[in-house]
Amino acid sequence: MGLTWANRMCKKKSGVKIRTERLHLYYGSVHALRDITIEIAANRITALIGPSGCGKSTFLKTLNRMNDLAGNVRITGGVYLDGRDIYAPQIDVAKLRKRVGMVFQQPNPFPMSIYENIAYGPKIHGMRQKGELDRIVEESLRGAAIWDEVKNRLDEPALRLSGGQQQRLCIARALAVQPEVLLMDEPTSALDPASTIKTEELMKKLRTDYTVVVVTHNMQQALRVSDDTLFFLNGELVEAGQTKELFLAPADRRTQDYITGKFG
Ligand SMILES: Nc1ncnc2c1ncn2[C@@H]1O[C@H](COP(=O)(O)OP(=O)(O)OP(=O)(O)O)[C@@H](O)[C@H]1O
Ligand SMILES: [Mg+2]
Repeated sequence: MGLTWANRMCKKKSGVKIRTERLHLYYGSVHALRDITIEIAANRITALIGPSGCGKSTFLKTLNRMNDLAGNVRITGGVYLDGRDIYAPQIDVAKLRKRVGMVFQQPNPFPMSIYENIAYGPKIHGMRQKGELDRIVEESLRGAAIWDEVKNRLDEPALRLSGGQQQRLCIARALAVQPEVLLMDEPTSALDPASTIKTEELMKKLRTDYTVVVVTHNMQQALRVSDDTLFFLNGELVEAGQTKELFLAPADRRTQDYITGKFG
């Protein structure tokens, strides 16, 4: 079955960025991910859809080992980034998370200035030169389509920004360490329609340089922004394919029922 999906998911010549193989995740006795084998293509936007509690956030977090932070987690199977097992003992998790950044549902700026929010990551990774930091801050804020709104107030607390601005700031913060993959967990669910559109436009632009994986409950959003879609149900990957195909001609009845709003 995995092969059929692989065939339906058009790969750009850049190929597969992330691959999971027979991935299971348990929170204590809760079996939250069941045997997930999938390839995520580079420089495309992959949407994760499915009803609440089906394992979308859990799956997303396995891709940069964010689940390591929960105490009762047990994982079997593999997750491979550019073909390398990210759960191998020699992997440096801080470096991994630099390569695979994450943006959360609620914008979570640090309680510091706009400038310092963006400079924080590069500084942690050893960047000290003021000129270089200035350049990274501007480039990241431009990349997240918020530069013009904040360029004259970089020293103000980030928490004074609106929710939509805070979310784009968090995207800029994620970009500042030059990741390769950006994981986004319902990045627009706390935003108004105008900010949502801005963030969606931004995601489409990011695809040129990054591999984006985004969780959404909004089917229209999945259709608008994503190239590929994965449909999860009860911890299982029910169906995966190019977004337009999956929405137009789902192979599985459960996908059909979900995307037409019969449940979830
Ligand atoms: N830290 C945890 N400890 C125990 N169980 C957990 C933990 N986190 C998630 N779960 C359980 O794992 C399952 C999947 O949760 P997950 O958060 O991945 O769902 P989701 O698809 O993201 O849902 P939503 O759309 O509501 O965000 C759920 O049954 C949830 O209760
Ligand atoms: Mg979730």
